[in-house]
Amino acid sequence: MGVATKQNELGPTGRPERVIPAPKVLDRHGPARIIAMCNQKGGVGKTTSTINLAAALARYGRRVLAVDFDPQGALSAGLGVPAHDVPTIYDLMLGKLKDPREAIQKTGTPGLDVIPANIDLSAAEVHLVSEVAREQILGGVLRRVTDDYDVILIDCQPSLGLLTVNALTASHGVLIPLACEYFALRGVALLVETIDKVRDRLNPSLELDGILATMYDPRTLHAREVLERVVDTFGNSVFDTVIGRTVKLPDAQIAAQSVLEYAPSNPASEAYLKLARELVQRGVVA
Ligand SMILES: Nc1ncnc2c1ncn2[C@@H]1O[C@H](COP(=O)(O)OP(=O)(O)OP(=O)(O)O)[C@@H](O)[C@H]1O
Ligand SMILES: [Mg+2]
Repeated sequence: MGVATKQNELGPTGRPERVIPAPKVLDRHGPARIIAMCNQKGGVGKTTSTINLAAALARYGRRVLAVDFDPQGALSAGLGVPAHDVPTIYDLMLGKLKDPREAIQKTGTPGLDVIPANIDLSAAEVHLVSEVAREQILGGVLRRVTDDYDVILIDCQPSLGLLTVNALTASHGVLIPLACEYFALRGVALLVETIDKVRDRLNPSLELDGILATMYDPRTLHAREVLERVVDTFGNSVFDTVIGRTVKLPDAQIAAQSVLEYAPSNPASEAYLKLARELVQRGVVA
């Protein structure tokens, strides 16, 4: 009874491998769930997961906006949109541009739009420090387009500074990508503390939407142990879906495509589609 399982097979989290059905087709759209993809540790798969989860949700007919909120601009590059000499999130944050639609670009994936960023954004923290309600600026920007989308994913930079606090304040939920390697959990306590503070002071309804294990290599005992610890620590907040390590993900990023387009038969492609299904099944997104 209950959820279908694949004949007693256990998934990498140690839970039974569930078959998660394809989400229902939406007959109307919006308002969006805003999700911050956040971890102050660098190189854990934030940008990769933003791109590919966004593409997977779009594949299931969701209208998705990906927001590049890192001055490195890796999300913009990975989605193949220009980020120079075009309006960016920085212009919106500083109020140089009022309507986010003027900065929104279409990507090669139908249903997936992006607001780009470039190195200018690194100056934003300094400019915004003296602003009134400086933590709430991104929220004010995104509110103007929430009705146009089902999901808005914010690709955060690897820091817990003012930009990340803006992302957490603007969001309904946080998704934390964690790489399955030594010290994966180091720093997570500080991240959770920051999330708690933002919830207390700025955004009482902020939820933890889930922890995504990334770069998992089932052949190494080490990765299996790390994942076990992550599941011990966070329990059901850890998604069943685990993203394996594969060179196709960096390759796809270099090709400025999602892995769904670049290597549709690669397990990473199915993994991000599964993550999209799991988010819908958990009721995180419509
Ligand atoms: N599952 C994976 N398997 C192999 N390589 C991966 C995987 N996920 C991401 N990568 C690669 O690891 C590097 C870091 O990933 P990514 O840029 O997504 O992390 P990030 O958390 O956004 O980093 P930063 O903190 O610098 O913004 C990239 O080169 C990316 O292509
Ligand atoms: Mg990144």
